[in-house]
Amino acid sequence: MSEAMPNAAIVLSAEALAAIDYEVAKYPAGKQASAVMSALRIAQKEKGYLANETIEYVAAYLSIPAIRAFEVATFYNMYDLKPVGQNKLCLCTNLPCMLNGALKTAAELKKQLGIDFGETTADGEWTLKEGECFGACAAAPAIIVNNEKMFENITPDKVATFLQEVAEQNQNKPAAQSQSKESTNPPDKI
Ligand code: FES
Repeated sequence: MSEAMPNAAIVLSAEALAAIDYEVAKYPAGKQASAVMSALRIAQKEKGYLANETIEYVAAYLSIPAIRAFEVATFYNMYDLKPVGQNKLCLCTNLPCMLNGALKTAAELKKQLGIDFGETTADGEWTLKEGECFGACAAAPAIIVNNEKMFENITPDKVATFLQEVAEQNQNKPAAQSQSKESTNPPDKI
């Protein structure tokens, strides 16, 4: 889309660019900036996380100032600005989830994984993040895995079973899909 693309080494695949073009086409001509969230999501899916160069590339592709893409990428916690583990767990700690025990769930997750919020296990399997309301307050505490799958009512006593289920689901994925390389379709719930 843009004629002045920075850093050719960051180039996204033709499939990813086609997915971004599809999102851009949803908006009137000249309003391609509106597709920035989708474009960043697609870029992250392909690259695994959003390096500065990737964000700059997306901004250039959309012909918008880089700062506009950085503003989005650094605001929403579904975007990862550094590499994450194969299983990225984002636990909601907003008020309804907190009132329903999210902090106790967080403590149990940290204990069983041996990491704090914002950290990844040494084997690269697990990343734990803190999230904002997912709109699942009636089923608190809620956790979103890899930006795509929501798990509800994860009380501390369910943490071990939850971790086991997530690990098994990822083990059953084809190799090409187990490293943030899934389809470029929008997530079901975000
Ligand atoms: S406060 Fe946690 S899902 Fe709404």
